[in-house]
Amino acid sequence: MTCPIAIVTGGASGIGAALVEHLVSLGWNVVIADIHKPKHSLPGTLFVHTDVSSWEQQADMFKQAYAWGKRLDFCALNAGIDDRDDIFNTLSYDMHKPPKKPNTDTFSVNITGTYYGIKLAAHYMTVLSGAAGKPKPGGKIVVTGSGAGLFPSPAIPQYTASKHALIGLVRALGKSEAAVEANVRINAVCPAIVDTGGLPLGLLDKLLPGQITPMSTILRCFDTLADLRDVGKEDWVERGPAGETLEGNVQDLIWHYPPDKKVHGEKGKTSREPGASQPKGEQIDFW
Ligand SMILES: NC(=O)c1ccc[n+]([C@@H]2O[C@H](COP(=O)([O-])OP(=O)(O)OC[C@H]3O[C@@H](n4cnc5c(N)ncnc54)[C@H](O)[C@@H]3O)[C@@H](O)[C@H]2O)c1
Repeated sequence: MTCPIAIVTGGASGIGAALVEHLVSLGWNVVIADIHKPKHSLPGTLFVHTDVSSWEQQADMFKQAYAWGKRLDFCALNAGIDDRDDIFNTLSYDMHKPPKKPNTDTFSVNITGTYYGIKLAAHYMTVLSGAAGKPKPGGKIVVTGSGAGLFPSPAIPQYTASKHALIGLVRALGKSEAAVEANVRINAVCPAIVDTGGLPLGLLDKLLPGQITPMSTILRCFDTLADLRDVGKEDWVERGPAGETLEGNVQDLIWHYPPDKKVHGEKGKTSREPGASQPKGEQIDFW
């Protein structure tokens, strides 16, 4: 096969930049889509300035990426930001000072931007396919969720909501017959706390070194979800998980599943007391 091609959004720094480096070391060519330029330009990469919350900019980036690589095998939808508004800390407690329209960029970047990315990646991954019903080649998508997509993080509710939304999106789309038929596999990686420039100020100071997740754990998650080393092998796309959620936490890779539907709706029963499963005492915020 010709050189495998990946797109990494938010690939200029942090987790995205580490993934770009990893992919290049495995022989991939990579398009970096970001609002910032990467500090170092690696051979085998193409930077396209892109705000993922803009449909026009993402669509144009995918077009350029496809023109450059002539195929698309893997897409990491990784760009993300934390909260841009606060509800309770900005209350005026004054009838004459109603709230201003809140900033909802977190939803535009994290949810809408990722949705646009899945829509566009699915298109470009399937343009080389055969006729309808006989698809190949397809490709793999990994969405960057977060520990805050699995557990609430009270300090960053917009972020928590957006990452929960992404887990729902991946679970719904990735398990759908249409995605399987199109030969596109979608999964989510949920990093715990990784030392990157994207962390809220002061968060690292609250943690012990043993509570920080090394980047190598997150790269193992990407490898597990998308078999990045095996691209080009027969049935590469068809192999591996679909619609799954994998947390990378310190040294551990932990699969997370939706609640079992069977325990719901038992006649007249309350499944558990509200709040019973909430952790008591100090809570570490997931970023
Ligand atoms: N670092 C952590 O502990 C952690 C934990 C869980 C999840 N995550 C998630 O991992 C992803 C990467 O975060 P990171 O920690 O590497 O942070 P980071 O700030 O180092 O990287 C984020 C990148 O996204 C880019 N970006 C921001 N807005 C963008 C937009 N509108 N369009 C395109 N690019 C945009 C930034 O320029 C930056 O290069 C994010 O989705 C984040 O929510 C991080």
